[in-house]
Amino acid sequence: MAQLWGGRFTKETDQMVYQFNASITFDKKLFEQDITGSIAHVVMLGKQGILTMEEKDQIVKGLTQIREDVNTGRIVIDDTKEDIHSFVEAELIDRIGDVGKKLHTGRSRNDQVALDMRLYTREHVALIDGLLKDLLQTLLDTMEANLYTYMPGFTHLQKAQPITLAHHFGAYFEMFKRDRSRLKDIFYRMNYCPLGAGALAGTTYPLDRNYSASLLGFEGPTMNSIDSVADRDYLIELMAALSTIMMHLSRFAEEIIIWNSNEYQFVEIDDAYSTGSSIMPQKKNPDIAELVRGKTGRVYGSLMSLLTTMKGIPLAYNKDMQEDKEVAFDAIETVENCLPLFTGMIATLKFRNQVMERSAMNGFTNATDAADYLVNKGVPFRDAHGIIGRLVLYCIEQDCSIDELSIEQLQSISPIFEADVYDAISLKTCVEKRLTIGGPGPDAMKQVIKQHKEYLQQESGMSV
Ligand code: ARG
Repeated sequence: MAQLWGGRFTKETDQMVYQFNASITFDKKLFEQDITGSIAHVVMLGKQGILTMEEKDQIVKGLTQIREDVNTGRIVIDDTKEDIHSFVEAELIDRIGDVGKKLHTGRSRNDQVALDMRLYTREHVALIDGLLKDLLQTLLDTMEANLYTYMPGFTHLQKAQPITLAHHFGAYFEMFKRDRSRLKDIFYRMNYCPLGAGALAGTTYPLDRNYSASLLGFEGPTMNSIDSVADRDYLIELMAALSTIMMHLSRFAEEIIIWNSNEYQFVEIDDAYSTGSSIMPQKKNPDIAELVRGKTGRVYGSLMSLLTTMKGIPLAYNKDMQEDKEVAFDAIETVENCLPLFTGMIATLKFRNQVMERSAMNGFTNATDAADYLVNKGVPFRDAHGIIGRLVLYCIEQDCSIDELSIEQLQSISPIFEADVYDAISLKTCVEKRLTIGGPGPDAMKQVIKQHKEYLQQESGMSV
């Protein structure tokens, strides 16, 4: 277990210490990024004359071959090495001899790991952004198909006012759209290259940091070498953004679970996205939605974990920071697993339009509109509210809805009611007249859908 740093030590590291300290079992995920970063570093060293062109070519060739051999399974990453950086360097020296020892010129593992993690994060931010875009497209398709699918809107999980399925899904469209814009912000803020920061204080070699940054597709180099190796803000921001995505998915999952229940039956989850019970043959359970809701906790956990790890770390690098990896990988993978499953579940969801519509009609969701009807006839709103309250009570006693009452019954509560009330409080009118921007009226929704379409066409995502 030869380490990169054995020189000043007279004793072997204790075996348990070695294992406690090692990170290869999880940072081997950064293999690709480590090779990519090393190649860029060496190419820059060559351009600057710090390495000869021949040395540079030999190292690049060696690194490229290691990449190929790992990717094709010809060799496996050796878990006895301390970390992925040590593995790559040792493998390189094994293959090309002493010239391989020049790879680490003008570099520290501190800026190396900072780079690898940024490269990894950048790729996955772009990937998650794409997955969100797929979900948005599915939501938009459902919205377009359901402009006239009436359902109750809820507050306090009590029926409140009638809306449409398109309108309800439109709320999630806004949430996931904001999630994408958060990722975009993170991407642009983090897209600076730490390579060349060294351990913490830069280096005396004439590195061209602008060149390294441009080789790796960054906006430019980071501007403070201490911050370059000590900053994990971008990960914290990402964990926060991922937590928010999971919070949105979890709320949505919760609604699907409720809607899919025997009591509601607004939707039926497709067989391919449901599971059965080992004992109760009648069961078809919404496990996918429940798991998405459940996994939200671990993503929140990663945010708390990282915030807590970072809060007491003096500048610059400290080994605590190695703890960023497992939590970040776990949160990223969790979101990457949840999003496409959720999108698939939504895309195959069967909506029971009639059940939803009946539910909207039965829950006095038109009571506000009945009050507005009286207001339009000159009754002050507060009085109208009281009249309709008494009307609802009367309906509850009669076990009927407002529009099932005869005109005589209505007039016994208030003489203001006339025959035109039925049209004014019909479900269709209640929804279709709500035309304020952002409201459920289909004509208002069509405007919003048009904007969403343009957004999905124009929004090109991030290039890495
Ligand atoms: N495995 C380490 C990490 O993930 C790499 C950096 C090691 N640097 C050091 N000074 N020990 O943070």
